[in-house]
Amino acid sequence: MEKIHSLTGMMDLVGKKADKSEVSNRIFFTEKVIKNIFQSYCLSEIRTPALEDENLFKRSVGDTSDIVNKELYSFLDKNDKRIVLRPEGTAGVIRSIIEKKIDGDAHRLWYLGPMWRYERPQKGRFRQFYQAGIEILGHEEGLAELEMISLICSINTQLEIKNPVIKINHLGNKECKKLFCKELVSYLKPFSSKLDKKDLERLDGNPLRILDSKNSETQNILKEAPKISDYLPKESLDLLNLIRDTFSNDCNIEIDHTLVRGLDYYTGFVFEAISPELGAQDAYLGGGRYDQLCSQLGGKDLPAIGMAIGIERLASIANTSEINKTLVSFIILSNKIEQKAYKIAHDLRSVNKKLNLDIQLSDGSLKSKLRRANKDNASYALIVGEEELKSNTVIVKSLLDENSEQSNMNINELHDFIKSIV
Ligand code: HAM
Repeated sequence: MEKIHSLTGMMDLVGKKADKSEVSNRIFFTEKVIKNIFQSYCLSEIRTPALEDENLFKRSVGDTSDIVNKELYSFLDKNDKRIVLRPEGTAGVIRSIIEKKIDGDAHRLWYLGPMWRYERPQKGRFRQFYQAGIEILGHEEGLAELEMISLICSINTQLEIKNPVIKINHLGNKECKKLFCKELVSYLKPFSSKLDKKDLERLDGNPLRILDSKNSETQNILKEAPKISDYLPKESLDLLNLIRDTFSNDCNIEIDHTLVRGLDYYTGFVFEAISPELGAQDAYLGGGRYDQLCSQLGGKDLPAIGMAIGIERLASIANTSEINKTLVSFIILSNKIEQKAYKIAHDLRSVNKKLNLDIQLSDGSLKSKLRRANKDNASYALIVGEEELKSNTVIVKSLLDENSEQSNMNINELHDFIKSIV
């Protein structure tokens, strides 16, 4: 029978021992660390549906963005309504708080879930990928920006990201953005014949996006172009300097006036975190302020700032060595004593909650169970047979050193030993 394969650019994540490449385990660990950070920043969780009305993204992320223009997974449902698999989380969050009529209040939210973009798959770029997002709503420019960068610093520190750079920029207010775009277009128009198709489209639809063109000829032309920094009000430049100075001891922040981001809803401060370890797709998170999105979608005027982390990218550069903490394998020698022996193991789990205790559930000889414990990289095997149960003891065998002697411990000794394992 012909085999059925997963779709292009979509990954199965299978846990622990089944995953030889360790990708899933790195991802699960990274998600756990991030969720703890969200909790420590007093954020609340929000879950919105994976499917949304296509118009939501046309009116938020924008018609001219690649995400909406080329990459939407869109379908007609059975009622001939055009729906999409969400390409990002921000628009759904704002739709949800408008619908719940809580768009007049302040909120600090986080979410984690799959997103879909019909992109050409390559290293670090998938058609289904996971994002963890944060949206801080109801706060004007200022402290919320600091909170966002502080959170990124915590992620970098706790996951020990190597050589991270946080790039920051400001797109100015409405007037300055309009004026700058006008000047940029009049400078670029005479070079139209030298621009590629993508940049030409941007020139008409969203000229700011030309600034992060990947085309080297465009980048050459841009060298003499008007600079956004010359159009930014003093408050915006001051904010960038303040953010850089506040965190100068904790993380590497660069002001980069070419950073514009690929979604239309941004209105002021924008940022991205990159790491050279990632190769071509080097951004592992990005975000910015989007003060007009809520009113654009029919809600109140709600200042907002947010970001999303690409989980696969972050997990691939995170230090996940803690996954491999000490594993203890619990071996029961006879099925006649299974229940009583199981209770010993159950109690051990509450003696040391951090312990990874693998109670071997399948039948087999001691030899095969020890072989399995070794294969799983267990540090110790705890062995219980009928004799041990009678004398209220457990055999403790170190698997770290082939030549070490095994010892019999009574339950109290065993509890002390288990407590001492980190
Ligand atoms: P974004 O820059 O489009 O922003 O995506 C955020 C992150 O998601 C990227 O930096 C990248 O790490 C990851 N990512 C994006 N596309 C892919 C892909 N095809 N495969 C793997 N990873 C990917 C947003 O989505 C905004 N909603 C962020 C935001 C929240 N702005 C305000 N609030």
